[in-house]
Amino acid sequence: MAFLNDNYLKLRAGYLFPEIGRRVTAFCNANPEAAKRLIRCGIGDVTEPLPEAVREAMHKAVDEMGARETFRGYGPEQGYEFLRTAIAQHDYRDHGMEVADDEIFVSDGSKCDCGAILDILGAENVIAVMDPVYPVYVDTNVMAGHTGAADETGAYAGLMYLPCNEANGFVADVPSERADIVYLCFPNNPTGSVATRVQLEAWVEYALKNDTILLYDAAYEAYISEPGIPHSIYEIPGARECAIEFRSFSKNGGFTGTRCAFTVVPKSLMARTRSGEKHGLHALWNRRMSTKFNGVSYIVQRGAEALYSAEGKAQIKALLSHYMGNAAILREAVTKAGLSVWGGVNAPYIWVKTPANTTSWEMFDRMLNEANVVITPGSGFGSAGEGYFRISSFNSRANVEEVARRILALA
Ligand code: MLT
Repeated sequence: MAFLNDNYLKLRAGYLFPEIGRRVTAFCNANPEAAKRLIRCGIGDVTEPLPEAVREAMHKAVDEMGARETFRGYGPEQGYEFLRTAIAQHDYRDHGMEVADDEIFVSDGSKCDCGAILDILGAENVIAVMDPVYPVYVDTNVMAGHTGAADETGAYAGLMYLPCNEANGFVADVPSERADIVYLCFPNNPTGSVATRVQLEAWVEYALKNDTILLYDAAYEAYISEPGIPHSIYEIPGARECAIEFRSFSKNGGFTGTRCAFTVVPKSLMARTRSGEKHGLHALWNRRMSTKFNGVSYIVQRGAEALYSAEGKAQIKALLSHYMGNAAILREAVTKAGLSVWGGVNAPYIWVKTPANTTSWEMFDRMLNEANVVITPGSGFGSAGEGYFRISSFNSRANVEEVARRILALA
């Protein structure tokens, strides 16, 4: 009999969102009437249609695929030049950041890239994550054998947890210990917090001083509404020497089902071999992508490119304003219900303290059973998330208004 990867057996329960899905399905099967009024504000999945500019570009690309002269087979594994150039220009160079076209690697999702990046990093690294945290960072390290077992709170031996709480505004403080790899996510999933320039400067300074690599997840960057908040880690001098950035078209362009994202790996970013020689990670990531990935489809990349047109940008703006309008309604409802709330200003997630020492899963059950609303229990994001829950504002306006009414009725 073949051996399996024992590390998978260390994973606690299911991945958070399938686990929520399992509980919701059980509830719906047992309560068919209540199931009809169920509103899902759990997983952060977009609900509004793809922007028109994207659809037009994709239709055109489909037609190109239908003619021998313009048909395309395998594309470049790193992404088509037209999209890499559009990204580097509009997202970085237009904002004064030095990022070359070939430092952009187009992929089918930031979740995939956050996991895949471990392929090019050593197994002996000390890994730090914020707590609460997007579970993918932790689970992929567990799968890769970078941790020990989980304790009763769900914390894995060998990982460095950086507590995020009300005291630090849910932004991790730079630790006194050294880590080789630090995952940072701003705007943050799940808490909706953002890091100021000063806070990110402190992280870059820490990284440069300790030879640390920052894995910076900026999937929700488009939701930043307050002036002065950095949209990219590369706004901070020195970040090209210590950071990889992940970005996605899922939440700005509504691509959660269409699938397109990108990762920036600067050529100046180095790591070392066991024997102490320095090597650039750009070449390794390029090798990894060429070997294990065949690129995102031409049709989808043309759709993503259209997001950078004037029409595309205006249509993104309309989508963001829809979801952020939802966030404002939800924030107001939970505040009126007497609960403490964070997020929802620079992020599509509302982070709420549960009332009167209710646990996160008790709150999940209460919202499901009494309000027929699906939320995400904070403890699913790590032990520091216990006593909180997350509401996603990705929904129709009518659904969000109804959720607001039900939250008030429950109070
Ligand atoms: C979430 O709900 O946290 C997101 O949907 C996760 C993701 O984008 O993978």
